[in-house]
Amino acid sequence: MATFLVTGASRGLGLEFVRQLVGRGENVIATCRGDRSMSELDGLYDTHENLQVMELEVADDKSIATLGRQLEGQAIDVLINNAGMYGPRSLSIGDLEGDGWAEVMRGNCIAPILIAQTLLPNLREGAGKKLVFITSKMGSIADNRGGGSYVYRSSKSALNAAVKSLSVDLAGEDFVSVVLHPGWVQTDMGGPNALIDAETSVSGMLRVIDRVGQPDSGGFFAYDGAVIPW
Ligand SMILES: NC(=O)c1ccc[n+]([C@@H]2O[C@H](COP(=O)([O-])OP(=O)(O)OC[C@H]3O[C@@H](n4cnc5c(N)ncnc54)[C@H](OP(=O)(O)O)[C@@H]3O)[C@@H](O)[C@H]2O)c1
Repeated sequence: MATFLVTGASRGLGLEFVRQLVGRGENVIATCRGDRSMSELDGLYDTHENLQVMELEVADDKSIATLGRQLEGQAIDVLINNAGMYGPRSLSIGDLEGDGWAEVMRGNCIAPILIAQTLLPNLREGAGKKLVFITSKMGSIADNRGGGSYVYRSSKSALNAAVKSLSVDLAGEDFVSVVLHPGWVQTDMGGPNALIDAETSVSGMLRVIDRVGQPDSGGFFAYDGAVIPW
């Protein structure tokens, strides 16, 4: 039984990660913002002793620091940085603006790396030593044929670049750091026309997370294990 920490667990892929992980008997620390409804997560919490729920606003340095203090001394095997946002949908060249863009950069790139940095002592105590970051194929520069989506694409490309550095810097400690594309998934973000459901996406990503080892560190994988070009 390993300990997983999943961010953004109030709904969508984060909630599904928690559902599948507690179901297979892992210890799970699920984080979500305090000001949102946690009803489905509460339901899981009521029925699973292996689930801890903690508050984390990923875009707030103080909230990250508080989580770090609350978890002091607790080993974590696998960190799944899942929380993310799409940001303003319709912006194209001509009407981009900085504040909204910076907010998405903070949530999608800066926050996951700061969370990993804060929880490194916990991850060093764990045996799993896996750092997982949920990115998007839209962050692939090689795959970008559609253009547009400046805000979301750039936030995920930046995340990918930072995780690559993390994989190099932590290789000496046997950490495995990877970015995972969940597919186009039916969640609030993916919308109802998306190609797969959250159960399919998360069961695929968990298969990838379970099997990745040192040689895969610094890799960019889809939920079905396919390698995605940078
Ligand atoms: N769905 C797709 O097709 C798709 C495709 C590629 C990549 N992804 C990536 O997969 C991840 C999960 O996406 P999803 O589809 O599950 O999205 P979602 O349904 O919109 O859920 C997003 C989750 O992130 C949390 N979150 C957002 N901003 C936060 C903040 N500042 N602090 C704390 N939590 C925050 C949300 O919490 P609240 O409930 O409090 O807002 C929610 O739990 C994201 O990183 C996303 O970019 C999704």
